[in-house]
Amino acid sequence: MSRFAQAVAHSNIALAKYWGKADVVRNLPAVPSLSLTLDGMRTTTEVTFSPELLADELLLGASLQQGKPLTRASKLLSEVRGLAGSSLFARVRSHNDFPTASGLASSASGFAALALAATRALGLQLPPARISALARAASASAARSLFGGFVELAAGAESAERVAGPEHWPLVMLVAVTSEAAKDTGSTDGMQHTERTSPYYASWVSDAPRLFAEVKAAVLGRDFARLAPAVEQSALAMHASMLAANPALIYFRPATLSVIETVRALRKGGTPACFTIDAGPHVKVLVEPNSAATLRSALASTAGVLRVLESAPGPDAAVFDGAFGEPSA
Ligand code: PMV
Repeated sequence: MSRFAQAVAHSNIALAKYWGKADVVRNLPAVPSLSLTLDGMRTTTEVTFSPELLADELLLGASLQQGKPLTRASKLLSEVRGLAGSSLFARVRSHNDFPTASGLASSASGFAALALAATRALGLQLPPARISALARAASASAARSLFGGFVELAAGAESAERVAGPEHWPLVMLVAVTSEAAKDTGSTDGMQHTERTSPYYASWVSDAPRLFAEVKAAVLGRDFARLAPAVEQSALAMHASMLAANPALIYFRPATLSVIETVRALRKGGTPACFTIDAGPHVKVLVEPNSAATLRSALASTAGVLRVLESAPGPDAAVFDGAFGEPSA
């Protein structure tokens, strides 16, 4: 008998960044982070455990994966097999409804959807915190994608926790896509390289809790004027630690800086907006809804911007029992 489940999880963008591991083997974060889950960027994952399979299989979109992506998925599947007392291999089909590009956080929604679908497929009804911990072991940012709205992952934590639901503050996240290329340095390698070689890594880790507390207080108080500088400082302090690594880890491209200039110029003119940047060249711009149209057109006409994606705060990850790609609820 095959055991099947399908789950949907939304991507998230950190407003207070996670960069660095307290424990590499268990994949525990060195700093606290706080993210916004995005309704416009979701991964749908279908998992089928079957006695007919001789190994785990992973299909991302139309392409069958080998190597690192398959190994990471298999590791998560093995954890779930251990919990359920099963020895069945699984076929995983995963599909993003947003273009999968560098730094677009597909691992966050991907591993969250995989952890949820795999546990349900083997009949486990685990609490969300337990599923968040399974996702976190694969990718710490994925722990946050189990929950909708504003979500935190404390330093050293096993699982993420909700700070406020999506309805708390209807901000808009615009993603200025600046490249189609896959990034050269993945986040785990980048974090370890930064920790080993950057004299600024220790300063980043020691100041990150202050920035996190500032972001959290601003989110809880819906105070955009307080949120904006803390969000930008968190992203730039994280990148400063990477820029000081040896050799330097530079995720910025010329278009990344052009978008930063666009946001700063608009802010000078009185439009409230702030930017954040992950381990990739794209810039994510956070705005209040009444400024979204202005920002969207300014970003679209900035040199080097290929397209702009738009998202509102997204919901919790969920399980569906409809056919693949056609959620029944
Ligand atoms: O969870 P990972 O290993 O993909 O790392 C994510 C790191 C950043 O995206 C740069 C920051 C964050 O908090 O999401």
